[in-house]
Amino acid sequence: MSVEITRTEKIDQLFQAHSLDTQGADRDFVTRFHNSLPKIQGLFQELYGVHEEAESQLLELLRSLILGYQAREESLLERDRNKAAEGNWFLSQNLAGMSMYVDRFAGSLKNMPSKLSHLQDLGVNFLHLMPLFESPQGESDGGYAVSNFRKVDPRFGTLEDLMDLRKTMHSQGMYLMLDIVLNHTSHLHDWAMKAKAGDQEYQNYYYTYENRWIPNEFEQAMPEIFPESAPGNFTWNEEMKRWVMTVFHNYQWDLNFSNPKVLQAMVETMLFYANLGVDLLRIDAPAFIWKQTGTSCQNLPQAHTLLRLIKQCVHVATPGMALLGEAIVAPKDIMNYFGTGDFVAQECDFAYNATQMALQWDMLASGDTSVMLQAQGDILRKPYGTSWITYTRCHDDIGLGYEDASIAQTGKDPYLHRKFLKEYYSYSGDQWMSPARGALFSSNPKTGDARISGTLASLCGLEKALFEGNGPAIEQSIQKILLMQAHSIFLGGLPMLFYGDEVGYTNDYRFQQDPSKSYDNRWMHRPLLDWEKVNRRKTEGTLEFQLFEGTKKLLAIRKSQDLFADLSNLSWMTPHNRHIAGLIRRKGEERRYCLFNFSDQPAGLTWYAFREQGESATQLLDSWTQSTYTVGPDHEHLVIEPYGFRILEPR
Ligand code: GLC
Repeated sequence: MSVEITRTEKIDQLFQAHSLDTQGADRDFVTRFHNSLPKIQGLFQELYGVHEEAESQLLELLRSLILGYQAREESLLERDRNKAAEGNWFLSQNLAGMSMYVDRFAGSLKNMPSKLSHLQDLGVNFLHLMPLFESPQGESDGGYAVSNFRKVDPRFGTLEDLMDLRKTMHSQGMYLMLDIVLNHTSHLHDWAMKAKAGDQEYQNYYYTYENRWIPNEFEQAMPEIFPESAPGNFTWNEEMKRWVMTVFHNYQWDLNFSNPKVLQAMVETMLFYANLGVDLLRIDAPAFIWKQTGTSCQNLPQAHTLLRLIKQCVHVATPGMALLGEAIVAPKDIMNYFGTGDFVAQECDFAYNATQMALQWDMLASGDTSVMLQAQGDILRKPYGTSWITYTRCHDDIGLGYEDASIAQTGKDPYLHRKFLKEYYSYSGDQWMSPARGALFSSNPKTGDARISGTLASLCGLEKALFEGNGPAIEQSIQKILLMQAHSIFLGGLPMLFYGDEVGYTNDYRFQQDPSKSYDNRWMHRPLLDWEKVNRRKTEGTLEFQLFEGTKKLLAIRKSQDLFADLSNLSWMTPHNRHIAGLIRRKGEERRYCLFNFSDQPAGLTWYAFREQGESATQLLDSWTQSTYTVGPDHEHLVIEPYGFRILEPR
């Protein structure tokens, strides 16, 4: 069966049924609707063409777009128009973000407005509030197991509190980012409850099976996400007497997007979030949203078709909301999330630059930039008009997901190199005197894989230095933290800090005493803020002051220079010294050289590096130290102190 919705009388009927003023007030919407309709129809056809209710389901989806648009309040419509007039508003260097748990940062949504000045003082105007919607206590995966997509969890406050906060933020020039947990629901979500009670309609919202035949077939090719705490990808449900797919934890039931009703329900949820005033929607775990036996069930072509369809729907109904695909996948796979072929730059507007993030940690441990440079071939292919979330730390672990080939091409043994990194950051090696204090997360003895948990400060040596009362080591770890922040702030993209890092929070081991968290050591780097500590950032001489002021200065430098907008204007300098990562940002004739010394020794870069690009700069002004350097002869060097960095403007 094919879907023939473009026939105008059906669309006209739909518009009439919803009293759309096609020539007047609703003209912009109607134009977007008609422009996108062929794409929406084509994408829908690809996924659901063979479904017996395809045509009526498509009509229902289109109806949801109209309803989503009609529910948009005037101030958001105006915000949409302003963003459209600005063009790619989200590429701007004026945006700087922070990701946080509302309860652990401020206590509650109601307390958030009183904390905004702390963020604004730092230079942050874009907030990622970690999952706020209802999720069962103890079985929530930090809120990523949602039991009600429209009810704010009472732990944080109410939907009204969230709306009030958003209005305050918007009125102060700030932006809001929230999550949509698209791939799964909590096992206590209404749909799952109905499925458990035997309702077949809702069993079809999930992947449920009466015996192990199909699950076994799936398992043959599916990797495990949490092999220690949640091995396997299916869970037996005694009430339903069926197996259910649970790729993440056993309480997170995977939604079945091959059912068009699931798509419609989730699009409606996304538009609901758009109408709460969300500026950027973080689509959680999009790599997983389509499943097929015989595959890894990650990054499948249909997952991309779904994301493209979602992008079109959002563009039609609530165009001011941009999309971030949280795909933490191999470098060769990530680029596809920005769209390919006819859909280049028409899938996700943002993705996490997780590869570069992990490579930063590789450079910090090894003092060597060569693996990072090897991996750039993939990373630099990002299409114009899309952007990265750049970051050093977030609420998740650090996965060393880059290719073995990138390591091998530098002459290193991939196995030994990864072993070194894991030992360096987890302090698990026997003879190691590593300054880092972290832990391995999700070690998989079957594959040898492991990821790393720990705060920015602890992984940069601050925890150990403080414990030992070692002044020079404390200074060095502060320098490392700022180096890591600087690298991700100037890389190109929207920098997303993680709360607590601006004042140097070290690991919190109390999660081990909490049975609902003890199996998940990511909680060691999700601090519960003590505002007495945070406020020490106002007292000169404290480490909180140094870190806060340093981070603030970095953000201010970025904001003040418009070539730091993400104009896809990044290139890497020739690695004359493998300890120094040198990136160039350009705009017309203008350029900035951002140099980062990842070594614990002073490192020199030949002045020739500034000439080989065909440039004739004679002086370089550093925005960070305010020093001016005279470009010398080729055999002389610009020397950068251990873990130092420079942001150089040619004069
Ligand atoms: C994302 C989240 C992570 C969560 C997972 C499952 O990767 O960042 O914290 O565990 O999705 O929802």
